[in-house]
Amino acid sequence: MKNIQLELPGRSYEILIRNGLLREVGQRLASLGTGRTPIIVSHPHLWELHGKILAASLAAAGMEVPVVTVSEGEQNKNLSTLELIWRQLVRLRADRRTLLIAFGGGVIGDMTGFAAAAFLRGIDYLQVPTTLLAQIDSSIGGKTGVNLGEGKNLVGAFHQPKAVWIDPELLSTLPPRELNSGLFEAIKYGVIWDRTLFDLVCAKAALFPKLDPIGLEQVIAGCAAIKAEVVSQDEKEGRLRMVLNFGHTLGHALEAATDYSLLTHGEAVGHGMILAARLALRMGMLAETESRQIESALRKLAPLPSLSSLTWEEIRQPMLADKKFSGSKLRFVLPIRIGSVAIVDDTPLVAVENTVREYLAHQSRN
Ligand SMILES: NC(=O)c1ccc[n+]([C@@H]2O[C@H](COP(=O)([O-])OP(=O)(O)OC[C@H]3O[C@@H](n4cnc5c(N)ncnc54)[C@H](O)[C@@H]3O)[C@@H](O)[C@H]2O)c1
Ligand SMILES: [Zn+2]
Repeated sequence: MKNIQLELPGRSYEILIRNGLLREVGQRLASLGTGRTPIIVSHPHLWELHGKILAASLAAAGMEVPVVTVSEGEQNKNLSTLELIWRQLVRLRADRRTLLIAFGGGVIGDMTGFAAAAFLRGIDYLQVPTTLLAQIDSSIGGKTGVNLGEGKNLVGAFHQPKAVWIDPELLSTLPPRELNSGLFEAIKYGVIWDRTLFDLVCAKAALFPKLDPIGLEQVIAGCAAIKAEVVSQDEKEGRLRMVLNFGHTLGHALEAATDYSLLTHGEAVGHGMILAARLALRMGMLAETESRQIESALRKLAPLPSLSSLTWEEIRQPMLADKKFSGSKLRFVLPIRIGSVAIVDDTPLVAVENTVREYLAHQSRN
């Protein structure tokens, strides 16, 4: 069992990682305090796949827990679904002692967290993440919210969970493309923070999830520890937390430019990290050997859909509209070596343009 403590004044919590942990949820709930009445939020399909084990664990601890299910997909991470959740909670007579259990990927985690943040002006929730992305990223750190028609994650709240309980065995049913999407984010942690983790992901990724469950547990713990460390030092994205955006500046622009349909989030970030490494190389911040290593690690991990249909203009527009840009300055998180990044506040637009144009030209030759 890996046990990581996320330290925040008055809101510290534990992140536990162990194969088979889902079976212990019932008995562990008791440790969170007495008088809790849990309600699970999940997707129907996911509940069908893994709900039995969770329900059995809760039943063994004397709890018969209601399940609120909502439709899956990013397109349902919106205010209408949130209202459905809240109204269900009212019908189930939820009160201030209710503990929501987010049982799903990042979509469920973000929505359940926000549902908890606002219901009766704030109730507690627990994260039991079921995708690799959620296990290493979205379930940790308390960012919650939903999308609007105008853009992603525009409405939300910082609301930390009471605990994050991670069972890597859940990933055995995850579609390979979703698993790979999470692995791109795992590489991100290696590049921004920890060379050893980078090497570990590169060496073992092909065996995940079933052929090396211990290795997978190690990778998840390595990533979760970095996320917890960063969040405990900078909960509300003052400056340090921005390092987690490595690969995301252009990644988000690529997602938007392709209408969120061509690429998974992880694939977009995969392209974004290659571009950031090339940009750092162009700006003389990163050695060529390291840039190549980052790129080949990402390419070996999983195929990245070609961007040959895109133009620089289509990418530039959403990039400049990104809510994270201030004024005309381009802020990029750029690697200086594998294991360390710098936040560069005044990246020249022309360097970004040349890097992207070159990358796209190469894509079309593929
Ligand atoms: N809060 C944060 O800090 C943060 C960070 C990163 C991403 N996010 C958010 O996370 C979301 C993406 O999360 P995601 O990638 O987990 O997507 P997701 O929640 O949509 O899950 C992907 C798909 O996998 C299915 N699934 C989940 N677990 C499964 C399992 N064990 N077996 C089989 N199928 C399973 C889901 O039903 C869904 O269809 C985005 O909305 C993004 O904005 C939030
Ligand atoms: Zn991401």
